[in-house]
Amino acid sequence: MCGIIGYTGSEDVREVLLDALELLEYRGYDSAGLAVKDAENGEIKVRKCAGRVSDLRAICASEKLVSTCGIGHTRWATHGGVNDRNAHPHQVGKVTLVHNGIIENYQELIADYELADELASETDSEVVAALLNHFYEGNPAEALKKTVSKLRGTFALVVMFADQPEIIYSTRNVSPIVATLCDEGAMLASDLTALCRFTNRYFVVPEYHILELHKDAVILKDFEENTVEPEFLTVDWELNSAGKAGYPFYMEKEIMEQPDAIANTIGNRIKGGMPDFSKDGVPDTLFTSCERICIIACGTAMHAGLVAQALVKSILHMHIDVEMASEFMYSDPVIDEKTLVIAVSQSGETIDTLEAVKYAKRRGAKCLSIINVKGSSIARESDYVLYTSAGPEIAVASTKAYTTQLSVFYLIVARMAHSRGVFTQEETQSFVRELQRTPDVMRKVLENRRDIHVVAKKILSAKDLFMIGRGLDYSILLEGSLKLKEVSYIHSEAYASGELKHGPIALITQDTPVVASVTQEKLFSKELSNIREVKSRGADVVIFIKENLSAKLEGEYEMIKLPDMQDEFMVLPASVALQLLAYYVSSDKGFDVDKPRNLAKVVTVE
Ligand code: G6P
Repeated sequence: MCGIIGYTGSEDVREVLLDALELLEYRGYDSAGLAVKDAENGEIKVRKCAGRVSDLRAICASEKLVSTCGIGHTRWATHGGVNDRNAHPHQVGKVTLVHNGIIENYQELIADYELADELASETDSEVVAALLNHFYEGNPAEALKKTVSKLRGTFALVVMFADQPEIIYSTRNVSPIVATLCDEGAMLASDLTALCRFTNRYFVVPEYHILELHKDAVILKDFEENTVEPEFLTVDWELNSAGKAGYPFYMEKEIMEQPDAIANTIGNRIKGGMPDFSKDGVPDTLFTSCERICIIACGTAMHAGLVAQALVKSILHMHIDVEMASEFMYSDPVIDEKTLVIAVSQSGETIDTLEAVKYAKRRGAKCLSIINVKGSSIARESDYVLYTSAGPEIAVASTKAYTTQLSVFYLIVARMAHSRGVFTQEETQSFVRELQRTPDVMRKVLENRRDIHVVAKKILSAKDLFMIGRGLDYSILLEGSLKLKEVSYIHSEAYASGELKHGPIALITQDTPVVASVTQEKLFSKELSNIREVKSRGADVVIFIKENLSAKLEGEYEMIKLPDMQDEFMVLPASVALQLLAYYVSSDKGFDVDKPRNLAKVVTVE
């Protein structure tokens, strides 16, 4: 979950590394560090500290140094607390190394190779540096291969050797590394947001290969010393789209980008008013031959799956499970060749989702994934991929990835309904037409964001909060509630309104605000009774409501009115409104919205 960067080229390496680390900081921000080869005397100098990349930048600013080759790291602590010693890079003998992943057998390695005296930190990563130094006799590839053969776990390793010229070495298992060669030099990183400033071409470093970055070349070899031609991919993200574009936080920028992100995601997949996955190479037989669906994902992506589950049940009347990827393999899931597995992931690197996909494929299931990052590990593991066109999502709290995932699900449901004979052509086209309204509808929500800001101010001091709704509203609120708790640190629980009286209503007092979502016409009166139950127990209630349902409650409740769409689609405007609520609470409380404490955006540890 850490961010890794390596560069050798013509530019001032510290600037390159620090800028890239800032872009990678969402992967972890407990500590930051870099190591560079001093051009004057060839020494490798390490600078690192607990804290943010900005702290590291301040340390570097006080020192004059000429260098064009170096490696950097931003950490999300696993082994060992957050302090300067445990920050990367780790230097042992001739080896300077940064690592992302987890080495499960690090204690055995310390004992087997008597490394204890060489270690200054409590990290598993430093053990790898010590082992590599132990095996190093002047041949980096040989030492890396020997070291890797002893490691159990996941790793992306990036290394400089003291007696080698300005070359960076890397190898990996599971944990991702992408690399590129461009006019300014050769570069690698744990994800491509860090490379975007230089190029839109990159390749994924295959597992168990050795990559060498030279100033004017990249050399990739397998462990048998065969040279391998890198498979370059092109990313269509704009080079500057990873910046904040004048917004104070990425989260706000990314919320505002949603209408375009959705238009881009669905645009090329609609032909003659019908959903069309032919460019993605996804055949209809995938949808017609399955007997059940299983969605696998984590966090926000899983919440997108829950919305899809409600749609599949009500429209397709099919059996569908949504599985938390982290629980999936241990729950004896019912998966076979008749199961269509849909994996959902923004990064395409979440290790639990990746492992779950591998497991499902071993059981004979076909896997379709919905992914934002091209060429990512889950995409490569899947039989078919539908990419979302959200562009880089930097804020840890996911927003545009979620709504673009939803938009893909709507297309899948429409295509399935048509290919399985549930929808006629006209019904499919009408469903798709409603989906195409989404960008405009979302723009209206965004235009009225001040109203949501006013509501946000009222819950700033809340310690606990409930979000209640029924049916699809409940699915939306699970995500709305996650968003609020992760960025505002308010304890928020989403509850199915009807279930509230079976326990949690005991917690409702005048100090427990309640956010209700009321967008489903057929559930309106039942939902209203539940809202009255909490109101009569003193709770301040604000209702996010479909506009055409609001007239009946005028004057009685505080309401945020959501532009009308057909009920199945109200998830989309409601989600944007709830994202804004979370955003404003967090920013008004003065928090670092993009980097909530303890979280990381890409979770590559189980
Ligand atoms: C982390 C992120 C969440 C994200 C989840 C799944 O917890 O903080 O925002 O929803 O991982 O990530 P994925 O990349 O698989 O969608």
